[in-house]
Order: sequence, then structure tokens, then C-alpha cells
Amino acid sequence: MSAAATEDGPALQARAVTRRFGDREALRGVSFAAARGETLAIIGPNGAGKTTLLSILGGVLAPTSGEVSRDPRDVGWVPQQPAVYGKLTVAENLRLFARLEKVADPDAVVARMLEQTGLADRAGDELGTLSGGNRQRVNIAAGLLADPDVLLLDEPSSSLDPRQRARLWEFVGALARAGTAVVFTTHNVAEAERFADRVLVLADGELLFTGTPAALHDAVGSQQADFEAAFVAFLRARGH
Ligand SMILES: Nc1ncnc2c1ncn2[C@@H]1O[C@H](COP(=O)(O)OP(=O)(O)OP(=O)(O)O)[C@@H](O)[C@H]1O
Ligand SMILES: [Mg+2]
Repeated sequence: MSAAATEDGPALQARAVTRRFGDREALRGVSFAAARGETLAIIGPNGAGKTTLLSILGGVLAPTSGEVSRDPRDVGWVPQQPAVYGKLTVAENLRLFARLEKVADPDAVVARMLEQTGLADRAGDELGTLSGGNRQRVNIAAGLLADPDVLLLDEPSSSLDPRQRARLWEFVGALARAGTAVVFTTHNVAEAERFADRVLVLADGELLFTGTPAALHDAVGSQQADFEAAFVAFLRARGH
């Protein structure tokens, strides 16, 4: 944890974040905060602005206006399309990222991440030979190298089988219990209901809802069969 992490302030705060691509407004004044140890799910239709928002929070894309409270160096970003090299081994990939992140002792950090993500026995394997689940673990390990206070995961479970998914959420849960704020996106809204403390509903660049999954369910009345139905009903009621 970096010294910048305050005990009582939010781990991450976005204030009135707007992003334009030409005429298109991908984000319209999005504000929210994540507490230490909190898990937030950003859900919303294709093109809602989820990846744009995570990219801004991770410091890889600048907002058109608005601000993010944390220095991107305190934020780990795990993109949906991993920037890893298939021809390098797992350990070589992580060492490369550790150098890019300018961590103090790359070898020690890589060894710790291999251990933490259960990849130690695959360290010498070429990344291209790994299963999707293991590749995703390398992707997450790369995002965690700098020991960030906040971890951003863009659709981390989309290519995983049910067993790998369970392992992913176990791992995320352990990080959150240790104090990391985790912000993830998913189209699997049942997963958001199950694993997020709060959900953020983003549609057409606008943040329509921030609250617990139960509160979202309540917002559309109790007649919806499950959270996914409640989510769809909520979007429909808001014109999406
Ligand atoms: N580099 C870019 N140039 C122009 N338009 C962009 C760019 N990146 C995103 N957009 C536009 O911004 C909007 C939001 O895109 P974004 O990728 O953030 O959506 P998303 O919610 O992540 O969607 P998905 O669920 O499909 O991943 C879309 O209309 C998209 O076309
Ligand atoms: Mg996306």
C-alpha cells in the first residue's frame, strides 16, 4: 500500500469525468467513489463507456474534463486484451512489466506474484501455450506488480470456464479482504450481484445508478425474477 492511501478517505474517486471522441460523448459527468476493500461492478450495455471509464481511472486515457483522485501509479489496470507477449515465458512477461512499472526489486516482486497467483509452476512456460484462465492470471499478476491500492479489471471473467471463474472471484475476494479496492466490469450481471458490494449502472456514458444489487432490484419493484431481469427492467425504465 502506498503512503498516499488515506485511512478514512476513499481509495479512488472520480469527479464529473467526461470523455469525448469527436462528436461522441462516451462519458457524461461520471462521479463515484470506491472505499478501501470495496468491490464495485460497472455494468451496462455494449458501448456504455465501461472500458473508457476504466482506461481513464487507470491513467491510460485522459478525460476531456473532470478528475480522478488517485495517481495512476497507485492503480493497477488489467485490460480485457492483455498486453502480454506469447513468445515470452510467464516469468519473462512479468519481469518486463515489473521493469516498465519501475518496481524497486523486479525479481523479488515477480517471485511474489507468481506465488500469489498460483503460477509458480508455470513460470518457465511460454505464455502462448497457457490456457485462457492461466493467461488471465498472468494478466492480473501484471496489474498487481506495483502493489496498487486499487485494481481495475475489464471483463476479467469473460473467457473463463466456471472453475476458473470461481478461482478468479476467490482471488479477487482475498485482495479486497486485504484492503484493495477492486473495480470490475462484466456482462455477467449475476456475477456482479454475487461478488460486488455495489454496482454502477452505466448506459450511453451516463451513470444511472450506484448502490447495492439489492437496492437496484428494489428500484424496479419486486416482481422481477432475478437480478438480470431487474437490471434489464431498470435499463428499459430509463429508456435504454
Ligand atoms: N478510441 C476511440 N475512438 C472513438 N470512439 C471510441 C474510442 N473508444 C471508445 N469509443 C466509443 O466510446 C463509446 C464507449 O465505448 P467503450 O468501449 O467504453 O464501451 P464499453 O461499455 O466498454 O462497451 P463493451 O461492453 O462493448 O465493452 C462507444 O460508443 C465507442 O465506440
Ligand atoms: Mg468494454
